[in-house]
Amino acid sequence: MHMRKKKWARPELAGCPYYAAFPEDKRGQWRKCFPAQPHLHLELGCGKGVGTAACALHNPDTGLVAVDISDDVLGDARRNAELAFGGRPVNNLFLAKLDISYIEHFFGPDDQVERIYLPFSNPWPRRRHAKRRLTHPRQLMQYRTFMAPEGEIYFKTDDLPFFQASLEYFEACGFETVYLTHDLHASGFTPNYVTEHEAHFSALGLPIHFGIFRMLPGTFVPDSMRFGMPDEDEPEEEDSSEAVDGAV
Ligand SMILES: C[S@@+](CC[C@H](N)C(=O)[O-])C[C@H]1O[C@@H](n2cnc3c(N)ncnc32)[C@H](O)[C@@H]1O
Repeated sequence: MHMRKKKWARPELAGCPYYAAFPEDKRGQWRKCFPAQPHLHLELGCGKGVGTAACALHNPDTGLVAVDISDDVLGDARRNAELAFGGRPVNNLFLAKLDISYIEHFFGPDDQVERIYLPFSNPWPRRRHAKRRLTHPRQLMQYRTFMAPEGEIYFKTDDLPFFQASLEYFEACGFETVYLTHDLHASGFTPNYVTEHEAHFSALGLPIHFGIFRMLPGTFVPDSMRFGMPDEDEPEEEDSSEAVDGAV
């Protein structure tokens, strides 16, 4: 699905005190953005930020950095945060535009991220594109470099094959499963901050697969043959049918 360009998004983000215009400059310094918050969480691929806004509002002791590659959806995320906070200052949220494939350029070991949210990441169903998944070992190994000991990844999706493949990725990269359900909304798990994709898919009657994966200490080397790593292999083909898109 193609999203219409939102002309207002960039100017609004430029004037937003919690938009990180140069996120690479904050590498290793993110905790300084949240002097009043002892915890640091990161949401990858926040989209329009409906869940993001609720999460920030209900967790005032946590600094949340929500990132996406699209200015347009980040513009919506800013508006949704303003709506949720209802005029109160948004002091525990930062929005940033960046490409998560290169997340190590934006987050470093000193950031000690305690939790990463991966809500409804693009499933990239074709086998040759699996390495673009945000749960792929080449991503998980990057996340390990800036997560706190025993840091956790909260991952949810409606896509069962993507979820199942991700269970293998987590195991291979030294993450233990601490919670798993194939029907998040029936599970009673709380708190759950419903995202726009989640609302859409559950309205269609699809169950939501959800897991919490805790980082184990030690050195892990995922099998490069099995997972198609590292990335000095063949150039990736463009496939517009799977374009990154935040539209529901
Ligand atoms: C399917 S949408 C999900 C949006 C939201 N989390 C939700 O649950 O409704 C995936 C989001 O991830 C973003 N995204 C995908 N790949 C990305 C990347 N490499 N870097 C940054 N954002 C990315 C897209 O722009 C899109 O907004």
